[in-house]
Amino acid sequence: MDSAHLAADLEHVLLTEEQLIGRIQELADTIHADYPDEEVLFVGVLKGAVMVMADLARAMPRHVEMDWMAVSSYGSGTTSSGVVRILKDLDANIEGRHVILVEDILDSGLTLTWLIKNLGSRKPKSIEVFTLLRKPDAMKVPVNAKYVGFDIPNEFVVGYGLDYSQKYRNLRCVATLAPHVYTS
Ligand code: PRP
Repeated sequence: MDSAHLAADLEHVLLTEEQLIGRIQELADTIHADYPDEEVLFVGVLKGAVMVMADLARAMPRHVEMDWMAVSSYGSGTTSSGVVRILKDLDANIEGRHVILVEDILDSGLTLTWLIKNLGSRKPKSIEVFTLLRKPDAMKVPVNAKYVGFDIPNEFVVGYGLDYSQKYRNLRCVATLAPHVYTS
């Protein structure tokens, strides 16, 4: 969706489509160089990672496989607790494979910490983290993310997969919402 349609709902565009796509291409080139001879399995975490997975996979100049997990964190409201329930597990057996977990955002770090531990117990050959966005000031547990698109301030952002009440995921940019959206 063109962000112009929703311009009145947005306060500030942090990252434009051009910036997002350009950075994803850079990171795809890095991943390609990091695994010169071996296959990589991208594991996306639904739903937020859908957009970045689609663009990252298409930026790769080689075969890639994609698989998906859906998880739900038991938390109060918007705060994750670190306790995670699997709603949809992987289709693939990852034993002996190079896995890259693909996320839209690394916030507190609780979800990825749990996922790394869970997938790590399945004996992958390696496991790395790709996150398009990271909020260093929100991190509660340190997560070693090898591929990071952008560090952003600790503000609530939407777009490019990120939602507010399941909306705004289809924005092409990443932006903050105007206050009237929360209060109306
Ligand atoms: C978001 C995001 C990560 C998680 C990061 O998912 O996609 O999975 O939160 O937060 P954390 O670092 O504090 O654990 P969300 O639970 O909003 O679900 P969604 O992807 O379906 O929007």
